[in-house]
Amino acid sequence: MNSDAKKQAVAAAALDYLKPHLENDTVIGIGTGSTANCFIDALAPVRGRFAVTVASSEASAERLKSHGIPVQSLTSVDRVDFYVDGADQANSALQLIKGGGGALTREKIVAAVAREFICIADDSKLVHTLGEFPLPVEVIPMARSHVARCLVSLGGEPVYRDGFVTDNGNIILDVHRLSIAQPLALEEAINNITGVVCHGLFAHRPADVLLLAGDAGVRELR
Ligand code: 5RP
Repeated sequence: MNSDAKKQAVAAAALDYLKPHLENDTVIGIGTGSTANCFIDALAPVRGRFAVTVASSEASAERLKSHGIPVQSLTSVDRVDFYVDGADQANSALQLIKGGGGALTREKIVAAVAREFICIADDSKLVHTLGEFPLPVEVIPMARSHVARCLVSLGGEPVYRDGFVTDNGNIILDVHRLSIAQPLALEEAINNITGVVCHGLFAHRPADVLLLAGDAGVRELR
C-alpha cells in the first residue's frame, strides 16, 4: 500500500470508529494535514449525523466548509467529543510530535478540550523515541533569537521555518537533533521559555487511541 492509500485507509477506519458514537449533538474536532484532509473527505457523506465540527486551522475549516460540513469556533461550543488528527511521530505511550503543517497551537488547544483524541497515521510514524522529526515550536516573532538560544541550551538545533506565518501570526522554529527520552519534562521545559506560544510535543495530552495504517490493514493502539 502506498502512503496515500494508507492515509485513506486510516481515515476510513477513524470514521468507522466514530460512527457508533455519532449523535445529533456530537461535536468533532478536526486536525490539520494530509491525513486529516482524508478524514474530512471521509466525513462528508455522514455530515447529517453529528452537530458540528471545530477546526484546528483555517485550511481545515475551508476544506470542511467546501464539503458543506458545519464549522464553529471553539468558543461557541461547550465541549468537543472527539478530536481526529494526524501526527508526525508517535511513541508507544501515544505521545506525539505534531506541527509539521504549522498548526500545532490550535491543534493542542482542541486536543486539550476533547474528551477523546483519535490520532490517525501510517505505521512509519510509530517510533521508539520521539525526536528524529524536528520539533516545531511556535514563537512570538520578537522573541525568535532568545527562544532559539534557550532551545540550544536544551540540546536542540533550532531552524527558522523561512517564510512561514502561523494562523496566529507567529513564526515557527523547527528543533533538530533532539532525542526525547523524557517527553513530559521536555514539554514543560519548552513551555517555560518566555516567547514560546506553544510547541508540537504532545506528552501531557497524548492521544487516547492511535489508528495506524500498514500493509496488513489498520491496527488500534491504546
Ligand atoms: C499539522 C500536523 C499534522 O497532523 C502532521 O504534520 C501530520 O501531517 P500529515 O498527515 O500530512 O502527515 O501536526 O500541524
